[in-house]
Amino acid sequence: MRKIAIFASGTGSNTQRIIDHFRGNKDASVALILSNNPAAGVLGIARKEEIPYIIIDREKFFQSNYYLQLLKENNIQWIVLAGFLWKIPTELIDGFKGKMVNIHPALLPKFGGKGMYGAKVHEAVIQSGDRESGITIHLVDEIYDHGKIIFQARCPVSPEDDANSLAKKIHELEYQHFPKVIEELMDSKI
Ligand code: GRF
Repeated sequence: MRKIAIFASGTGSNTQRIIDHFRGNKDASVALILSNNPAAGVLGIARKEEIPYIIIDREKFFQSNYYLQLLKENNIQWIVLAGFLWKIPTELIDGFKGKMVNIHPALLPKFGGKGMYGAKVHEAVIQSGDRESGITIHLVDEIYDHGKIIFQARCPVSPEDDANSLAKKIHELEYQHFPKVIEELMDSKI
């Protein structure tokens, strides 16, 4: 059984899709959810799904190996970042090399980097005049939104789109692809 830990800071709609995807799977499961935000919707999902969760302590996260040890002690093999807003410390990245995956709501390498999250990404895409956007699923390295790209999917940006309507299209793409890509990655099919 491969155990996945999901890190999320917000609503957790992707987290819900990932949990649903792996429900009943004999080979992989979402074993732990971690959030930096005690008010995050994703914690309600963890409670409802009866998945253990942890609210991350900032100092322990950035100043020690506490969470790396905790994840290893709990036999977590894969980390999925699903809307997690803190930068991951180098030790944690090194401890999960090639086994930590992030989703970004645009076509990297454009519209990524520090501060590029949520509506800001979609506003920047619209401002740019680009006629398409999409999602990028990539491995995590020590630079924001920079690791090896493993999957992208595209959608059109129409002249009528605002950040809200574009966010909806992007979320649909995320729900359609993210859980499957995680599974394929774990099965080494990518
Ligand atoms: C997603 O759009 C993802 O691309 C980004 O953060 C958002 C998380 O949304 N990294 P949700 O919390 O899964 O609804």
